[in-house]
Amino acid sequence: MAIRNIRKIGDDVLRKNCRNVDVIDDRIKTLVADMFETVEKHDGAGLAAPQIGVLKRIAVINLDGFKQEIINPEIILKSGEVSDVEGCLSVPGKWGMVTRPEKVVVSYQNLNGETFEVTAEGMLCKCLCHEIDHLDGVLYVDKVTEYIDPEDLK
Ligand code: CO
Repeated sequence: MAIRNIRKIGDDVLRKNCRNVDVIDDRIKTLVADMFETVEKHDGAGLAAPQIGVLKRIAVINLDGFKQEIINPEIILKSGEVSDVEGCLSVPGKWGMVTRPEKVVVSYQNLNGETFEVTAEGMLCKCLCHEIDHLDGVLYVDKVTEYIDPEDLK
């Protein structure tokens, strides 16, 4: 396993559309292991493959209760609206308010190629929406309504 370099805002790779994963081989397994190691090292809630320069539809979620790779994730249902503060490992030192669905149902595959659906609210919902946006070249800064002074978060 290895910690990968995180691409920062301004890098074109963050603005590309990612490709679906058709075959989950050893390279994908290594990639996912590296993504977990990298997100844990930075104490992030999630990380998407383009953030380490790989244009594949893969993200990892690193939350208590949902530590999970999501391969080919899709939001299949969303409802409500809620605004909450977000940050991103690719946009260091900044936080801002973003309006997202209050609740989503997301389908995804795990490393065994099994398909699951997760119903999410709160932090997990926010995180899933944020990471799936990365796979379409969208950053939270595209949706931010107001930046937050880090001092106000303490
Ligand atoms: Co991000």
